[in-house]
Amino acid sequence: MNRLMPMKEFANRRQQLISHMAPDSIAIIPAAPERVRNRDVLHPFRQDSDFYYLTGFNEPDAVLALIPGREHGEAVLFCREKDPLKELWDGFLVGPEAAVSDYGMDDAFPIGDIDDILPGLIEGRSRVYYPLGKDRDFDTRIMEWVKVIRSKVRSGAHPPGEFIALEHVLHDLRLYKSAAEIKVMARAGEISAEAHCNAMRRARRGGFEYHLEAELLHTFMTHGARSAAYPSIVGGGANACILHYIDNNAPLKDGDLVLIDAGCELECYAADITRTFPVSGRFSGPQKALYEVVLAAQYAAIDTVRPGNHWNNPHEAALRVLSQGLLDLGLLKGSLDQVLETEAYKPFYMHRTGHWLGMDVHDVGDYKVGDAWRELEPGMVMTVEPGLYVAPGNTDVDPQWRGIGIRIEDDVVVTREGHRVLTDGVPKTIKGIEALMAEA
Ligand code: GLY
Ligand code: MN
Ligand code: MN
Repeated sequence: MNRLMPMKEFANRRQQLISHMAPDSIAIIPAAPERVRNRDVLHPFRQDSDFYYLTGFNEPDAVLALIPGREHGEAVLFCREKDPLKELWDGFLVGPEAAVSDYGMDDAFPIGDIDDILPGLIEGRSRVYYPLGKDRDFDTRIMEWVKVIRSKVRSGAHPPGEFIALEHVLHDLRLYKSAAEIKVMARAGEISAEAHCNAMRRARRGGFEYHLEAELLHTFMTHGARSAAYPSIVGGGANACILHYIDNNAPLKDGDLVLIDAGCELECYAADITRTFPVSGRFSGPQKALYEVVLAAQYAAIDTVRPGNHWNNPHEAALRVLSQGLLDLGLLKGSLDQVLETEAYKPFYMHRTGHWLGMDVHDVGDYKVGDAWRELEPGMVMTVEPGLYVAPGNTDVDPQWRGIGIRIEDDVVVTREGHRVLTDGVPKTIKGIEALMAEA
């Protein structure tokens, strides 16, 4: 295995989770299923983030059981058996033996034996943690295993009485990234930044939006990131105003901006970068004016990312700068307080300024504790992504602004001293973008 994440990291996480579990409990976490794309063709396999977080094990048809204090070992994996014929057709399988020797499991069994073995591991444990309600089939299987134990109560078996959503504990652990995780995320950010630079260079030759998407994927894969973390958004002209535009099939036009929101996935960690730049390599006057507002909002928002501030501070900072900018340019009328109070900015800025980032692009972790916004703490990773979007049909504003969509997004980790931007390998100032594109 050639990967950035050391194996001991996964063992540490299992230990951490176990230390948060009740002593008489068991956690049961399934791998992601394979999904059919069409007939005999499967979608590329993507492991379940929770399962991968705890195992580093990248096969379907597997279940992890964590059993605090179990005499014969606390971490038990059920997985596919070695099978030379199957491996000849479909590729390498780890198998139970190597799950112990290479993946640090205490015990491992063939997945085919799970119905015989798992009820015995659950028996006597009063609580079961599992991803409750996430997958109906798995909910049913849990209840079937419990039923096996219930059928034996007259012989003295103790079925569990409590079922607890695993994510309460696990997702809070996932929110705080370790040094090893930051390293992988920084590498994902670096690769993605290079991909954006290459797409900017490619844009001057024109063509279609998907030509830029191809450039992104080429750079991701060249560096061993085998897929994008989410479908890349490449929106030229007014397509930039469609927040989740993924058709990517329109021609690139000289004079238009193009918005790219794309990041690679590396070892199940996402990068998430947006840049907006002119196809021609030079911003027009109105494009420049709106762009400077978004950039100032992004700087102001990033500036608030530090321990002690709370989750909503970057959003509040961005809203102030964006709203003032819209007033200054005449797209809105009134005072700043009025605009903020009445949310008059909403036709131009309708999304939030970021989200947690990690193994899922919109990562897990609570944004509020009770009624209060969550305080930022070292190890949390978030995106900062303000934007302005002027709908092409917005007749309330001067025609020069219509159809311009701009977003600027970076990935930011909270550090003890403040923050670190993981995605600064791609320019975002007008000068920096125009200089890079002039090289092409
Ligand atoms: N790329 C998805 C997002 O920016 O939230
Ligand atoms: Mn994002
Ligand atoms: Mn994004």
